[in-house]
Amino acid sequence: MLDRRSLLKNTAAIAAYAAMPVSTRAAEQQTLRSAALSRGLLYGTAVGAKLLNSDPLYRDLVAKQAGILVCESESKRKVLQPTQDTFNFGPADTIWRFAATNGQKMRGHTLIWHDYNPDWVVDALARKPSERIITDYISTVARRYRGRTHSWDVVNEVINIEEKYPDFMRRSSPWYQAFGESYIDIAFHAAKEADPDAILFLNELNPEADERWSANIRRGTLDLIDRLLRRNVPIEAVGIQAHLKVFRTSYNDDVFSKFLDEIIARGLMVMITELDITDIDGPADPEVRDEAVASLAKRFLDVAFSKEQSLGCLTWGITDRYSWLNSHWKYKHPDGRISRSLPFDTNYSPKAMFSAMVSAYSAAPTRS
Ligand code: XIL
Repeated sequence: MLDRRSLLKNTAAIAAYAAMPVSTRAAEQQTLRSAALSRGLLYGTAVGAKLLNSDPLYRDLVAKQAGILVCESESKRKVLQPTQDTFNFGPADTIWRFAATNGQKMRGHTLIWHDYNPDWVVDALARKPSERIITDYISTVARRYRGRTHSWDVVNEVINIEEKYPDFMRRSSPWYQAFGESYIDIAFHAAKEADPDAILFLNELNPEADERWSANIRRGTLDLIDRLLRRNVPIEAVGIQAHLKVFRTSYNDDVFSKFLDEIIARGLMVMITELDITDIDGPADPEVRDEAVASLAKRFLDVAFSKEQSLGCLTWGITDRYSWLNSHWKYKHPDGRISRSLPFDTNYSPKAMFSAMVSAYSAAPTRS
């Protein structure tokens, strides 16, 4: 039996809840974290350390909605090792600690990338350095977070069809220039030795579209995987970044599904690692843009989550307020509008994309 004081408190809470807009109520009840977990999947987001420290609404939203986090930039080499003799783990530690406090997993992103390297690394690579520029770094970083890391993007964006090589490899990468394709082998072996329990990913951009250029990215990715597997490289999963463009790029469920099947047939797991859906080139009406983004999110994730070997999805940010797209030369709106590409709007309220993602998780087959 409730005493008078609790009854009054409950009545006030019920009244407040009833006054909430339905969409917010939905977010109050259902989180992406719980919807994902109910099917044995993960939902998470890229986060920024500065934002976690400075924006309480952002911090609470991330803590409540995400089951796994990844550093937007804090665990990239330019931040982690600004000079050969200096490591700057502070910002990344902030995010790993936040995840631990909130019972969230962590993804490491990214050990080897052609971009976001400190100048000293680029200079050293040009001088044909030893492999230790890869192995020492990976050993230092992956050991530090060993036992606290679900997975690592060991290499990122190694395919680049614009260079038009027959294998579609990004040969302009300073890593490729220094070591040939074997830089990938060296990195994976170093990561496996440093953290044998983390799932080791090859993470790739734009393989999911129903476009000829994207078919070449798929071909390049699958042929590279075959070469790596023949060389006994310990690759375990493929990350599909999924920076989708709902009004600019074609998408077909069967094309995407077949690509996932090809990866899985090679014994690998799959994960959507950086989902956002830019509304660039969309109509003026934000509701129309939101619906188109939500509809593609549902279709895309329905296919991704239909695969038993699918680990889940991270969005590249969680609120439109801080999306990288708002400052991206290719995807920022010319008129300065905020990109409506993520599950929550600039006021941290759930959008149609949030509901579409909850629905996709809820419709997914349950896995152990
Ligand atoms: C981006 C970050 O969002 C930006 O803040 C940063 O300036 C550049 O990197 N693919 C990736 C991510 O793998 O690491 C990129 O993140 C976005 C594209």
